[in-house]
Amino acid sequence: MSDTPHKVGLVTGAGSGIGRATALEFARTGAAVAVLDIDETTAAETAEMIREDGGEALSVPVDIAEERSVRAAVERTVAAYGGLDFAVNNAGLASHHRQLDRMPLDEFARVVHTNLAGTFLCMKYELPLLEGGGAIVNIASNGGLYAIPAAPAYVAAKHGVVGLTKVAAVDYAPRGIRVNAVCPGPTRTPGLERVAAGTDMLAAQEAITPLGRLATPQEAAAAAVWLCSDAASYVTGIALSVDGGRRA
Ligand SMILES: NC(=O)c1ccc[n+]([C@@H]2O[C@H](COP(=O)([O-])OP(=O)(O)OC[C@H]3O[C@@H](n4cnc5c(N)ncnc54)[C@H](O)[C@@H]3O)[C@@H](O)[C@H]2O)c1
Repeated sequence: MSDTPHKVGLVTGAGSGIGRATALEFARTGAAVAVLDIDETTAAETAEMIREDGGEALSVPVDIAEERSVRAAVERTVAAYGGLDFAVNNAGLASHHRQLDRMPLDEFARVVHTNLAGTFLCMKYELPLLEGGGAIVNIASNGGLYAIPAAPAYVAAKHGVVGLTKVAAVDYAPRGIRVNAVCPGPTRTPGLERVAAGTDMLAAQEAITPLGRLATPQEAAAAAVWLCSDAASYVTGIALSVDGGRRA
């Protein structure tokens, strides 16, 4: 039995990878899901997949890097479904692998702005709408907990996402709102496959992962859905690794 009947959830970056898997999984719990993505076509595909599965979904365009766009997308979700019970802030982008002294400021700023300020903007407009029992999960990364070589912008941004998560967990706990992060290790998504194209990166990552393989998007999604559920009612302010044992 689902423990989130008739609830309303929002997932950013839900047109692909971990976000799509999270939106599909939420819908299976009985929640209505707002599928937010900068790519309207893939967002609409995810919403259609949910409806074909018997669920309720609405696709909403958003650029998480733009405040007006985030505000409008959250408002559209609430106008359609009457409220918000949980949000998974998953949208993000990778950066080119470059050591710090070779990274142009504009690339550093772009990656930090989308991954960190974008998550901040989503939380800024979601938090006022949540009531006691509501929950936010930010998808950070194992790069939010320790270094990924030659990824200074991404790692700085994801450490920042973990920091935002902890501050919000403390600030909003008195209102009964929980805020957590999921920190995936390498997960086989279209995004990661683009980054790894033409390299032996995926095999190398598998070789250094204790469980000997990459995560599936569904495995990261399951952690996010659990953290939003009443089963995690005493869990707030954590950064949960879903990394096949890498952090150990
Ligand atoms: N795949 C991995 O190995 C891995 C590991 C750790 C963390 N993560 C994190 O998980 C999240 C999802 O990654 P993924 O691998 O599923 O990526 P993906 O590229 O497959 O999907 C990302 C989605 O986000 C959307 N998006 C990008 N910029 C956006 C913006 N400005 N506004 C709204 N939507 C935007 C894209 O259109 C896409 O649909 C990211 O935050 C990523 O950093 C991924």
